[in-house]
Amino acid sequence: MSSSSQPREQWASRLGFTLAAIGSAVGLGNMWRFPYLTAENGGAAFLILYILMVFVLGLPIMLAEFVIGRGAKKSPIQALEHYGGRAWKPVGIAFVVTGFVILSYYGVIAGWTLRYAGRAVLGGFPGSAAERFQEYSGGGDAVVFQVLFMAITIGIVMGGIKKGIERTALILMPLLFLIVVGIAIYAATLNGAGGGYRFYLHTDFRDILSLGVLTQAAGQAFYSLSLGMGAMLTFASYLSGDANLPRQSLIISVSDFAVAFVAGLMVFPLIFALGLSGEVGESTIGALFISLPQAFSQMGSAGPPIGLLFFVALIVGALTSAISLLEVVTASTMDSLGWSRHKAALGTGVVITALGIPAALNLDVLGAMDALTNNLLILVGALALAVFVGWIMPDATREARKGAESTRWFPVWRNFLRFVAPALLVLILIRGVPAALDALRALLGGGGG
Ligand code: PHE
Repeated sequence: MSSSSQPREQWASRLGFTLAAIGSAVGLGNMWRFPYLTAENGGAAFLILYILMVFVLGLPIMLAEFVIGRGAKKSPIQALEHYGGRAWKPVGIAFVVTGFVILSYYGVIAGWTLRYAGRAVLGGFPGSAAERFQEYSGGGDAVVFQVLFMAITIGIVMGGIKKGIERTALILMPLLFLIVVGIAIYAATLNGAGGGYRFYLHTDFRDILSLGVLTQAAGQAFYSLSLGMGAMLTFASYLSGDANLPRQSLIISVSDFAVAFVAGLMVFPLIFALGLSGEVGESTIGALFISLPQAFSQMGSAGPPIGLLFFVALIVGALTSAISLLEVVTASTMDSLGWSRHKAALGTGVVITALGIPAALNLDVLGAMDALTNNLLILVGALALAVFVGWIMPDATREARKGAESTRWFPVWRNFLRFVAPALLVLILIRGVPAALDALRALLGGGGG
């Protein structure tokens, strides 16, 4: 069954694990989804709700994933079976399916970013940004760039944990941090940046007093932290015994939040300084891909280089996240079918790419896949993880303590997973389920149109 003949791969360094996990977390969710979600849902008020969701709900569940992964040293399906018996296998399978769905549309958006970066190199963004987005986000060319991006992702995962995933994270993540902070500082120097900050952080507490917004904030928190589908679990399965898991969870959550927050500080001042505020009113998938290139095109000679840097940051974020998604599927296939890493990464990668083609051709399909995973699959996954570590896994607290300094929080954590987290997640799902079902109906009914 499992490839026990070969020793399990391991990270070469603790930093490598940390950066790979941050790489998984930081992605399109931070730089593309988070800023407009915040602006749309009450600015600073939403930000507060989001911070709560990240640190109160997300962080304990991240620790839960780490504890299962490091404890079992197996990919999700086998890890859940290891501690929970056969009954938990379907949950592991659901994680892998979620990975399939997310990555298939994620690769499409990442393909757009490749194309925008290419555009910046070739001289910038003249002409109508809305028309360009329409052109880029549909048709055969979108498939070409999606395939290109997926090929890079597959190649890196085929390289393995140390030589593929870890090395990529060590090189690219520092670059991403530099670019995001650099552009945010540059944006602050622009005339009219203040309007952007005001729009981003205007406070309307009435906006957050609805269950729908809570669901959005929670879904975004889990998505952004790569939780609820076994990505963090899988990465932790390559850890040795003495990593301080609570500290890792904190470092990763703080970094992920910081990049999302700074992304807003980069996006909105740019847009507002160039008087394009009307462009962000609508909450479409394309908002960022339309208004930012338009801003770049109006910035004069600074436009193309700043635009290029911005899209490079997006590509890096997307790539390191896509890698972790493919690793969940690859590791599970290796462990379940006894395939080699090469065969598993290539085989599943090709299927995922094919599955994404409808999303490349049709924006509505893409939106529906996004809604389905965010409003339902990862929330149910997170619920299952909380219940699993809270009630089922026998030595969860002991495993969590290994390598940690202070031990007094662990019983609190376990009780939180037992009672509070499931209750909150059920509440959140009350709104998430209908939204996801709507998305599914749209996908099945109107997908072809
Ligand atoms: N966290 C990634 C992002 O914000 C997306 C992702 C979700 C990656 C789930 C892995 C698993 O873009």
